Amino acid sequence: MRLDAYLCRGGYSRREAQKMIKIKSVTVNGIVQNNLSFPVKEGDLVLAAGEEVWGQEWIYLVLNKPAGYICTTDPGTQCVLNLIPKKYRIKGLSPVGRLDKETTGLLFLSNDGQLIHRMISPGKHLSKEYAALLRDPLTEEQAGRISSGLTLADGTVCRPAEVTGLGEKQVSIVLTEGKYHQVRRMFAAVGNYVCELRRTRVGNFRLEELKEGECRLLSADTVRRIFE
Ligand code: URA
Repeated sequence: MRLDAYLCRGGYSRREAQKMIKIKSVTVNGIVQNNLSFPVKEGDLVLAAGEEVWGQEWIYLVLNKPAGYICTTDPGTQCVLNLIPKKYRIKGLSPVGRLDKETTGLLFLSNDGQLIHRMISPGKHLSKEYAALLRDPLTEEQAGRISSGLTLADGTVCRPAEVTGLGEKQVSIVLTEGKYHQVRRMFAAVGNYVCELRRTRVGNFRLEELKEGECRLLSADTVRRIFE
């Protein structure tokens, strides 16, 4: 993509983009470029007046979601997009699937509709791991009912989910589907209660290193490996 078009995609008007390039305020991978049609490739780092510009077609982000944010794109609400730096808030960026307002941890965001479909499509059974803090110690009977698959009071059938005790009231649970409030409702169905819930892994991708509220860019390659 041409450098001027790249800047426009990143939020500059055509006139601003051309001016920035002409006055030598734009670098690509650390080298000043004053040619409007310089070809920008995937993975190139473009700075305008020292600020990174995101003009690539697809964007993949991982966010360590804090409690209190909802997974929508409505700017009038306390939504997860408010945690994303402006330069990455490009058209079409949305959370991939949903975490409840009080659930924390791993959340992908992207504008790539195919990826979103692949991740949330029920037929794919992509595994998702959660760490939960329960009100009461997990009993063998509760673990057994969850791991053999249970039916909720409203008739929702849940696939078997692997539950592992991590501490007296701390457990890990792995789902291969994503139904509404599923973890909370499964524990409620067996007579327990989820006090805290955090998603720690999706497919092959584990949430590490990010502070709460922080997000990071992912390469298309890293995203591909989530499904391997
Ligand atoms: N299950 C829940 O109950 N809540 C979430 O946010 C995710 C899975």
